[in-house]
Amino acid sequence: MTFDLNREIDGLRGELVRLRRDFHRHPELGFQENRTAGVIAKRLTDMGLEVNTGIAKTGVIGLLKGEKPGRTLLLRADIDALPISERNRVSYRSRNEGVMHACGHDAHIAVLLTAASVLARHRDLVNGNVKFAFQPAEEQGGGAKPMIEEGVLRDPDVDAALGLHVWNNLPVGVVGIRTGPTFASADEIKITIKGRGGHGAMPHQGVDAIAIAGQVITTLQNIVSRTVSPLESAVVTIGKIEGGTAFNVLADRVVMKGTVRAYSMELRKNLLERVERVVQGVALALGGEYEFESRFACPPVVNDARMTKLVGKAAASVVGKDKVVTAEPTMGADDMSYFLEKVPGCYFRVGSANPGKGADKPHHHPEFDIDEEALPIAAKVMLKAALDYLR
Ligand code: NI
Repeated sequence: MTFDLNREIDGLRGELVRLRRDFHRHPELGFQENRTAGVIAKRLTDMGLEVNTGIAKTGVIGLLKGEKPGRTLLLRADIDALPISERNRVSYRSRNEGVMHACGHDAHIAVLLTAASVLARHRDLVNGNVKFAFQPAEEQGGGAKPMIEEGVLRDPDVDAALGLHVWNNLPVGVVGIRTGPTFASADEIKITIKGRGGHGAMPHQGVDAIAIAGQVITTLQNIVSRTVSPLESAVVTIGKIEGGTAFNVLADRVVMKGTVRAYSMELRKNLLERVERVVQGVALALGGEYEFESRFACPPVVNDARMTKLVGKAAASVVGKDKVVTAEPTMGADDMSYFLEKVPGCYFRVGSANPGKGADKPHHHPEFDIDEEALPIAAKVMLKAALDYLR
């Protein structure tokens, strides 16, 4: 009997939805995905895969060996949820108050588990190996890097990687691909301005850390607008500011936190240097002191041209050529980048928006939901691309 991918996945549609809703009901934050990892590991074991748990704390790897030798392809799904209180009134709403799958990672797990179950039943179609990488903590902390450090790309050595994100900026039925940079690098920055306290009515006797912070924020705006080519993309955002104790007291200390984003590691480095130079220059000029810290979250996601072409072809066979679009680049970040830094691959987007079904909220919104029709589409594209790669 010949293998009919579309029929196979259509038959698993109910299972995909059930799985996704189960994970949606039981969301867990990064590096705490214990129940999630347990469900994943049990299913992979039942399929007859070689399973490794506890990778980067709560990550799970399933290794599927094909009937014939060949290359090794890694398929990645992130498995963590967000610290958000769900406001959807659906039957499958979060049972874990304050935690929610508001980015669609529940869908990623369901899709990858389903893809694994199909390939496990059709090992004859696989030349080589498929490594299913269920990665913890994409949102906070970053699980990809420690997974790689713990050897996910070795034994057998991984030749290429694929991953997908359900995407509410695209209508369901559309697949978005892009060669080259597609998500930005991300750094978290922390700026501390130190002044000297005093009476609010006698500012000349102290050093006002709030006044300095105001100038720092204003001057930071010059970095992107005046020092980066208008044709390049960059972001410097201050997202949090804390300082002061009372209306009539000079603040002696202000702490600001923010993020720096870029599409190249070179620009990223330059931006961080310029931010520190602005903080230093302004703080010293106004009689204050400063501390500057940055924490590197992840490099930009850069898709390989050949792997992207492979996914584009697979997607066209599933949704039709006219529904495969060039994905808009985003300054959002995703630590899939660590995998794609090491091996060629493609991180693609599967449209999941459908205003008619209420699936029109942005990612990380307390009413985020997807059109579940995206699930079988995602599974088909992932499987088709994987099978083409391992043919
Ligand atoms: Ni996400």
